[in-house]
Amino acid sequence: MDWHRKHLLGLEDLSPEEIVSILDTAESFKDISIRPIKKAPALRGKTVATLFYEPSTRTRTSFELAAKRLSADTLNVTIAASSVVKGESLKDTVRNLEALKIDCMIVRHECSGVPHLISRYLEASVVNAGDGSHEHPTQALVDLFTIRQKRGSLTGLKATIVGDILHSRVARSNIFGMLRMGMKVHLVGPQTLIPRGVERLGVTVSNSLDDAIPQSDVLMFLRIQSERQKKNLFPSLREYSELFGMTRGRLQKAKSDVLIMHPGPINRGVELASEVADSPRSVILDQVTNGLAVRMAVLFLVAGGGREG
Ligand code: CP
Repeated sequence: MDWHRKHLLGLEDLSPEEIVSILDTAESFKDISIRPIKKAPALRGKTVATLFYEPSTRTRTSFELAAKRLSADTLNVTIAASSVVKGESLKDTVRNLEALKIDCMIVRHECSGVPHLISRYLEASVVNAGDGSHEHPTQALVDLFTIRQKRGSLTGLKATIVGDILHSRVARSNIFGMLRMGMKVHLVGPQTLIPRGVERLGVTVSNSLDDAIPQSDVLMFLRIQSERQKKNLFPSLREYSELFGMTRGRLQKAKSDVLIMHPGPINRGVELASEVADSPRSVILDQVTNGLAVRMAVLFLVAGGGREG
């Protein structure tokens, strides 16, 4: 299909065809990273800026590398060393950066909706790299790409997403993306970390990980996000990990081809025991590797290489 979107702000309003288009484009870019010369000219002459108001290891580095692999110029804005610390507003910051003739801005912010707001201020393309508890669209695309890579297709597979659903932008984007691609989604976590009424989205909910494990094709564990929790929403990390942590014993109850996923960073010993995180069933490092191809695809499609009209 022809690609028409200038921005990627979330998966909530993407069609299945658009998601497949991104995944297929990522597939075509995957081999660039294993060639002796890891470069393609698709974004030559374009400039991609990353603007992260929150810390990141995987997302920021893979966007930067993705832009470089496609021959774009890159600009990483370090917020702590920018005039944001002198009180410069969000609008002034992004408009001043655009005055340097940026073509695409990758934005992460602790407030939901900031990438959407920025997209109204700028002519440049805007990609949401995570906004508050709202969406993290490229992480969900990475997850869909990884599941499709490992299982051949997505339709009919059952994913169980475990943990802090309430604060998780990864969970929200995955719920939208997985349902749109014909997967079944089950949510497991403490009652206090499951958004009220979430079943309306088309998911099922329970508080028992042990019941969910044998029925799941994908087990996706989420990080406990202490920085977003305003009050204690469960008694202790030890109790959380006893009820909702994936251990070697629990892995034995899973399907033999189950995929263990986590967007990172992992709290080892809380969401996942180290033996599980590093087991052959874990595809966590595949998710990171695939992040590069998926972000190359997103940059290519929104920043001009693939956009029609
Ligand atoms: N998954 C993810 O967003 O990781 P980072 O915070 O390291 O980018």
